[in-house]
Amino acid sequence: MNGQVQIGTSQKKLLKNVVMMDGTGALPKACDVLVEGDRIAKIESQLEIASYPNCEVLDCQGLTLTPGFIDVHTHDDAQVLLNPSMLAKVSQGVTTVITGNCGLSLVPLITNHPQSPLDLLHTKEFKYGRLSEYAKAIESAKPSVNVGVLIGHTTLRAVCMSDFEKAASQDEVAAMTQHLDLALQEGALGLSSGLFYQLAAAANEEEMKALSRVVGQHGGVYVTHMRSEMDSIIEAMHEAADTAQAGRVPWILSHHKCAGPKNWGRTIETLALLDRISQQQEVGLDAYPYNAGSTLLRVDLVDGVIPILITRSESHPEMAGRYLKDIAKQWHLSEQDACLKLMPGGACYFQMHEEDVRRVLQHPLTMIGSDGLPHDERPHPRLWGAFAKVLAHYCRDEKLFSLPQAIHKMTGLSAKRFGIKDRGVIQVGAYADLVLLDPHKVQDKATYDHPHQMCEGIHKVLLNGQWSFDNGKVTGHGSGKFLKRNGA
Ligand code: ZN
Ligand code: CU
Repeated sequence: MNGQVQIGTSQKKLLKNVVMMDGTGALPKACDVLVEGDRIAKIESQLEIASYPNCEVLDCQGLTLTPGFIDVHTHDDAQVLLNPSMLAKVSQGVTTVITGNCGLSLVPLITNHPQSPLDLLHTKEFKYGRLSEYAKAIESAKPSVNVGVLIGHTTLRAVCMSDFEKAASQDEVAAMTQHLDLALQEGALGLSSGLFYQLAAAANEEEMKALSRVVGQHGGVYVTHMRSEMDSIIEAMHEAADTAQAGRVPWILSHHKCAGPKNWGRTIETLALLDRISQQQEVGLDAYPYNAGSTLLRVDLVDGVIPILITRSESHPEMAGRYLKDIAKQWHLSEQDACLKLMPGGACYFQMHEEDVRRVLQHPLTMIGSDGLPHDERPHPRLWGAFAKVLAHYCRDEKLFSLPQAIHKMTGLSAKRFGIKDRGVIQVGAYADLVLLDPHKVQDKATYDHPHQMCEGIHKVLLNGQWSFDNGKVTGHGSGKFLKRNGA
């Protein structure tokens, strides 16, 4: 990069000579961009430096300017409070994270003994009975990202029910809808569910549809980690779509995959179904760019065929980073029994086919969500690499889509789908959440062996008009905000 660079906290910033990709998918444009306070003030082919005294001027020759990336699928609920610098995300250009996915949210549960799968958030302290209290905690933690919040159905069950083996009674449904209604009033983006997981699996149609109708009254979204991503995926898709339709809310299919060798290739079928559903109702989906999933250690996912890499184990932490097959051999056990011995814990499951990954990423409705698990000792590399890998590998090297399209999947599409107002696009009046990157050099570095590697090629990140990341470091301005649905 040429020119003098003065990084400061000036209220005005003039970004000269950028190649702008505005987040809508439109073709790139060479221009200058002026930021005033937390907003984008001007976008013109040329803005004269002399006209802007007391302005931080940055010559961005050779760099691409994009909206800040929105990580639509995270489990950062506790992370934004405990580790607000959020380096894994900020270093990739992420300016907003959406928490509360897969049915698991910190709000509105109060407990010191979260049951599995709520332990996936990896905190023992669930202490926010209302979204407004969590929002206050976010504002005082000053994270380096904005935070939008989904309310988890599993969390609602944990608040309102005692016997999770059953569908909720009428009274329990009423209690859940009350909590959900309040959270939506306080700005939640919508409801998420994870019927795949224990604690939620017994939920029936009535329970889910009652909650969906509450979401519909507020104009939120319904986001699903479906009951099945394996053999019964088609049934699971119909169930999720029907639930959303009951509330007339958009349905968002989380981390879409066809898991297990028996189901490889079936994204042809699932995406065709999704296209058909999208003609009747609003639909979205998200994905991460890897052929391994990652979740809790579960013996039902151990099929003896796919490789399974341990990311953490409470009973045997020293086994993090090793393959289950090798551990089983060492212990003279079956893979299932070794898994039981390692539980509770987490793992990466190499359960997808590359062709399916590509097909899903390429779908025009697919947004990028990392699904990173920030607390695992040896996390899946998607935590530090998902966005960079889409840009480097799938966009630049494999040419799965153009760069403006790749950016759109991380910004404009995501903001629109989730009701995040005035972000995800570079427009006069929009918030100045911006990324300066070098598309030729951007590169993910995190691997399964070395998952904590920062990506390359992201030069600077602006968050609400303040630098959040510069030259490999988080700046510490911590200007992240709690984002209410539709900016309400
Ligand atoms: Zn999930
Ligand atoms: Cu998830």
